Amino acid sequence: MTDEQELLGKGKLIHTNERNGAPLLLLDGVAVKFFPRRSPLVHLMRVACKGTKAHKQWNAASALRKIGLQTPEPVEVKVFGFQGDYEAAYLYRFLENAKPLHQALLDGDRPLLLSTLAEELALMAQSGFLFVDFHLGNVLVDELGKLWWIDPEMTFSAAEIRKKFWSRMERMHHKCDPGVLSDDEWSFFVRMLNEKLPEDLKRI
Ligand SMILES: Nc1ncnc2c1ncn2[C@@H]1O[C@H](COP(=O)(O)OP(=O)(O)OP(=O)(O)O)[C@@H](O)[C@H]1O
Ligand SMILES: [Mg+2]
Repeated sequence: MTDEQELLGKGKLIHTNERNGAPLLLLDGVAVKFFPRRSPLVHLMRVACKGTKAHKQWNAASALRKIGLQTPEPVEVKVFGFQGDYEAAYLYRFLENAKPLHQALLDGDRPLLLSTLAEELALMAQSGFLFVDFHLGNVLVDELGKLWWIDPEMTFSAAEIRKKFWSRMERMHHKCDPGVLSDDEWSFFVRMLNEKLPEDLKRI
C-alpha cells in the first residue's frame, strides 16, 4: 500500500475542496490536506524543487509564524509517487473548537474581529506578502477570539501585491462573502486597513 492510500484509508473526511474535489482529512489531531497531481513531468519538477502546493503552504505558514501571526503548526509535507491522484499532502495541526470568521462574526465582537483582521492583513503587507486566497472561511477564530490563518497561499512580489491587494479585499467582500459585512462595516474595515498599510498600498 502506498503512503497516499494509507493516509486516505486512515483519516476521517472533514472537507472536500469544491474546485478540485481533493479531501481534507483529520488523523490523530492532525489535518491532512491533499493536492491533486498534475502531469508526470510537472510532478517530477515540483517534487525535485520542493515546489508542490503542499510545500508552498508549508512555506507560507512559516512566513506567517515568523511575523507572529497564528496559523496551525505545520507538521509535515508528504510527497507521493506517480500512481495515485495526489502530488502531496500538507499536514498541520487541527484546531478543536475553532470557527470560520464568517460564523464567529454572528455572535462575536464584530468591530474587534474586523479591526484585528485589518491589522493582521496590514502586518503581512508591511512584511512583504499578501494572503492570496483571502476570504472569511480561510480565517478561523478560536475560543479566545484569536485569529488563525488557514489555507495559506502567498505572493511575495511587491509589484504583485501593489496590483492585487485591493482586488483581493474586494473579492472577499463582493464575491466570496457577500452580505457578511454591512456597508458601514466594510467602510470601517477599509479605514482600519488604510491606517496601517504602507504608503504605496493605501487606497486614496
Ligand atoms: N487546522 C484546522 N483546524 C480546524 N478546522 C480546520 C483546519 N483546517 C481546515 N479546517 C476546516 O475545514 C474547512 C476547509 O479548509 P480549507 O480552507 O483548508 O479547505 P479548502 O479545500 O481550501 O476549502 P475552500 O476552497 O472551500 O476554501 C475550513 O473552513 C475549516 O472549517
Ligand atoms: Mg480554504
